[in-house]
Amino acid sequence: MKFFIDTASVKEIQEANAMGILDGVTTNPTHMSKEEGTFEDILLRICEIVDGPVSAEVVSLKWEEIVAEAGKIAKIHPKIVVKIPITLDGLKAIKRVSSEGIRVNVTLCFSATQALLAAKAGATYISPFIGRLDDIGHEGMELIRTIREIYDNYGFETQILAASVRSPQHVVQAALAGADVVTLPPAVIKQLLAHPLTDIGLKRFLDDWNAWKQKK
Ligand code: G3P
Repeated sequence: MKFFIDTASVKEIQEANAMGILDGVTTNPTHMSKEEGTFEDILLRICEIVDGPVSAEVVSLKWEEIVAEAGKIAKIHPKIVVKIPITLDGLKAIKRVSSEGIRVNVTLCFSATQALLAAKAGATYISPFIGRLDDIGHEGMELIRTIREIYDNYGFETQILAASVRSPQHVVQAALAGADVVTLPPAVIKQLLAHPLTDIGLKRFLDDWNAWKQKK
């Protein structure tokens, strides 16, 4: 399972990259709006840090404009994957942009039919938003399981990228459901590692070791 980080913060990306487990980055317009610098400069800085794909999202709504914007974003750096929302215009653009050899991450996916259409249009990644489905009383993880089954039934190569992740439990469940990638908020990356019994156990080992050393 690949781990992406879901942020546009260079500092947060550097910290996660230093852990040695980072496979890529996903950004969105909200993440970008929190950072200093131009869209292009932020992406270039991120691409210098991470050895993997970096998703950057279009903000156009009409398909011809999405295609043109996607072309410009893809030219910023070879690591860039263009994020396109799954609307009717988005779908037309996904097909066109993917056929031009640009990798597309289809975003704002909330249903299996959207995921099926994205795969048929040639998307490289589909991003089901687990947490936002949970927020409205649905079971976000069920969508991951359904998409996995559909893609496996037909041999679609589109990778399932579990997004809108809120907790370590989401990560475990996405792994069990067969998601190819999970994109993690920085806080969740830290939570993945933390366990109070690890800290207690380590303290006990070191206390025993030091007591033994003092006796010698
Ligand atoms: O970047 C897409 C997705 O991961 C956003 O998550 O937490 O804003 O629902 P969230």
